[in-house]
Amino acid sequence: MESQERSVERPYTDEIETKDMRENSFEPKIVVFACNWCSYAGADTAGVGRLQYPPNVRLIRVMCSGRVRPAFVLKAFELGADGVMWSGCHFGDCHYVFGNYRAVEQFEITKNLVKMLGIEKERLRLEWVSAAEGGRWAELIKEFVEDVKKVGPSPLRKVQGFKSSMVQGKSNKT
Ligand code: FES
Repeated sequence: MESQERSVERPYTDEIETKDMRENSFEPKIVVFACNWCSYAGADTAGVGRLQYPPNVRLIRVMCSGRVRPAFVLKAFELGADGVMWSGCHFGDCHYVFGNYRAVEQFEITKNLVKMLGIEKERLRLEWVSAAEGGRWAELIKEFVEDVKKVGPSPLRKVQGFKSSMVQGKSNKT
């Protein structure tokens, strides 16, 4: 009787709960390529300042954002990333002068490749963060994690032969 009353009061409860649970339980894996001189240092500044941001991020340090290639990003998606961020110094601050301009070119190519694979554009992001911008770093990571949560797990997870061991955090070494 009680359950009947509840179902009358709250129709479609099961579907709503299932959707909510799915959204709440999904913790995306985010890969961030960060340049050594600015963005990686910005992440460090956030840490030193004890700024809170989600622990979903796997940070990969590169010497310059211009070093990142489309293949790096595609590999990250292949290995289970739900989102990839690419971050470097602001224009004019790159230690290799034109590195971040190169990053923009490479990012545009990557965006097209990712689109061709059916991966949503929300899963890929390019941002400039300086060494002093710990607060900005923490905010960007929070925002990106929320955006990726909204689009859900990467569609590549459903592809047969997908290397799910990386998603589970297991080593490939046996
Ligand atoms: S050194 Fe940071 S973008 Fe080039």
